[in-house]
Amino acid sequence: MKEKLEQIRSLALKYMDDISNLKELDDLRIKFLGKKGELTKVLRDMGKLSPEERPVMGKLANNIRSEIEEEINSTKEQMQTKLKERKLKEEKIDITISSKSQNIGHRHPLLSTIKELEDLFISMGFTIVNGPEIETVENNFEALNFPSNHPSRDLSDTFYVNDDLLLRTHTSPVQIRAMKEMGAPLRMISAGRTFRFDDVDDTHSPMFHQLEGLVVDENITMANLIHTLDIFIKELFGEDMKTRYRPHHFPFTEPSAEVDVSCIACHGEGCPACNYIGWSMELLGCGMVHPNVLENCGIDSEKYTGFAFGMGVDRIAMVKYGIDNIRLLFENDNRFLEQF
Ligand code: DAH
Repeated sequence: MKEKLEQIRSLALKYMDDISNLKELDDLRIKFLGKKGELTKVLRDMGKLSPEERPVMGKLANNIRSEIEEEINSTKEQMQTKLKERKLKEEKIDITISSKSQNIGHRHPLLSTIKELEDLFISMGFTIVNGPEIETVENNFEALNFPSNHPSRDLSDTFYVNDDLLLRTHTSPVQIRAMKEMGAPLRMISAGRTFRFDDVDDTHSPMFHQLEGLVVDENITMANLIHTLDIFIKELFGEDMKTRYRPHHFPFTEPSAEVDVSCIACHGEGCPACNYIGWSMELLGCGMVHPNVLENCGIDSEKYTGFAFGMGVDRIAMVKYGIDNIRLLFENDNRFLEQF
């Protein structure tokens, strides 16, 4: 019996070497250790042994069983580890592969110009005020001291909704709203869309954008106006930029001026862009708020004075970004917009 048991052990270990998968390993376990396996078969003859031999053989058989079992288990473990490794290798995902990029877009050049201007004026203590695009004739003209025969009130210049309402022709009516609502002292800006009956060309569009500013307080003078606008122009376009004030007429300011700025292309040297005069023309209009306008809004014009200014945002964006055709700003062609 001892020989038979030893034989089982060496056979089992020998077969183990040739095992190549878990199924074969399981078959091997059944063949040697199963209920009808080799070891059980030998142990059936136990009864034929003498009582002295029985415990010795029993012990040997148990040792051989656990030896084979251990061997099977460790082979099984090795196989499982190898399988796992192979699976990991095969199912590896390359997370570095480039994904489809999401185009999240960015601000329109006009909006970035407005935001930049707003930030600048906020840093100087101005408050942002918004006004409606459909305005009353009263706010757009009357309260701003426009005489009733002023050409810009003409039907051919303005989009009227009815006799009392129109698409605002400028952002100046927001001054009226702000003064009526908040009174003096006041420091506000307002940007937005404005409308005029203009034919479209490279620099004109029936819809365009303005930014309006207004300061009302005691002892406000033209010096405050010039200083404020100088700071703003230098911040926006560069320290070496100069401003030039030309007398002009606006019904709502007295005196009024138009402001020229050093040519953005050559900073005043003279170049083809400015016809060698060194100035970019008419970037904004400004002046000291007309006493009639203050009074129209219930502000004591003996106590308070103010200055105001208005600029075309489209023109500023065009100068700033070197855009030579205003239509490009409104066509929403991505090939154009992606450049900013
Ligand atoms: N509203 C004027 C325009 O549309 C621009 C302007 C000029 C606004 C002078 C002002 C100002 O506030 O003081 O042409």
